[in-house]
Amino acid sequence: MTDRIQQIREEAEQAITTATDTQTLENVRIHYLGRKAELPNLLRTVAELPASERAATGKAANEARKALEAAIEQRAQHLAAVELEQRLERDRVDITLPPDPRHDPGRLHLITETRRELEDVFIGLGFNVAEGPEVETVYYNFDALNHAPTHPSRLMTDTFYVAPADDIFDPNARLLRVHTSPVQVRAMEHQPPPLYIIMPGRTYRPDNDATHTPQFHQIEGLAVDTDITLADLQGTLLAFARAIFGEEREVRLRPHFFPFTEPSVEVDVSCFNCTGGLTAHGLRCPLCKGEGWIEILGAGMVDPNVFAYVREYGYDPEEIQGFAFGMGIERIAMLKHGVPDLRMLYDNDVRFLEQFG
Ligand code: PHE
Repeated sequence: MTDRIQQIREEAEQAITTATDTQTLENVRIHYLGRKAELPNLLRTVAELPASERAATGKAANEARKALEAAIEQRAQHLAAVELEQRLERDRVDITLPPDPRHDPGRLHLITETRRELEDVFIGLGFNVAEGPEVETVYYNFDALNHAPTHPSRLMTDTFYVAPADDIFDPNARLLRVHTSPVQVRAMEHQPPPLYIIMPGRTYRPDNDATHTPQFHQIEGLAVDTDITLADLQGTLLAFARAIFGEEREVRLRPHFFPFTEPSVEVDVSCFNCTGGLTAHGLRCPLCKGEGWIEILGAGMVDPNVFAYVREYGYDPEEIQGFAFGMGIERIAMLKHGVPDLRMLYDNDVRFLEQFG
């Protein structure tokens, strides 16, 4: 009987060393030490053996079982380590690669992107950024900006008044600002000259078509100092136009009217889609409509009447001059990126939005 045990032991040891993966090793274990295996069976029946054989057989079988268990355990640890090593080698993950499927971290909205681009340009020119409230008073939105009582944009049809606005001539009546210009007055009340600021923000008008939405964005600019001329305005706007629309751009000032600037101008930039109104194929340029120039903003020298409203804050119209300008952020974005309809900026269609930012 001990011979048979020795035979099983040798056979099993052989199988253990030749097992090259944990699954095969497990099969070896079941085959030699499992419930139906010969050796454990033998151990269970030792008691039934003749007394002379009992001790020797029991001892040999027990030793064999312990030896095999130890050998299996040792081999299992070895194989597990090898397999882990192989798995690590095979499944090496490059954590610097982008996730798959791609996880889109999102992007800036075109309006935000354009606002920041504009801010960067003017900050580079020495301007600071200031902000003011979107719910304004008639005083800041109209009166202190030298709007005559008869000015048409004061009408209910042109301005969103905040209820109750029984008297739209009450300086304290509330409205949604129609432009960012009221921030000019607030900024001057806040700080004496010299002042070089830009004022971005939301503005509101009861319009709705391909080039107007009831809510839109403007960036206002204001420079006040003791020696500001129209040439400074022109130079500043030229630098801005070239930074945004390309180094070859020129600007042109046309006479216009705003209640709060005198003289007032509308500013055009030379078309960046054609030369002199004609495309490379000799066709009328669709962007500037063959004009060669595109209107981009309103501007002018600050009207002394506006300074008179803030004289007590250090703005003596006899001592200082200033220029101001205001532009629509959506308009700049549309021109620059060829967006055909302003409302696309507010449709929240990602197929459009994900092209920017
Ligand atoms: N506030 C004017 C508008 O909304 C633009 C402007 C700003 C014009 C500053 C002159 C100076 O049309």
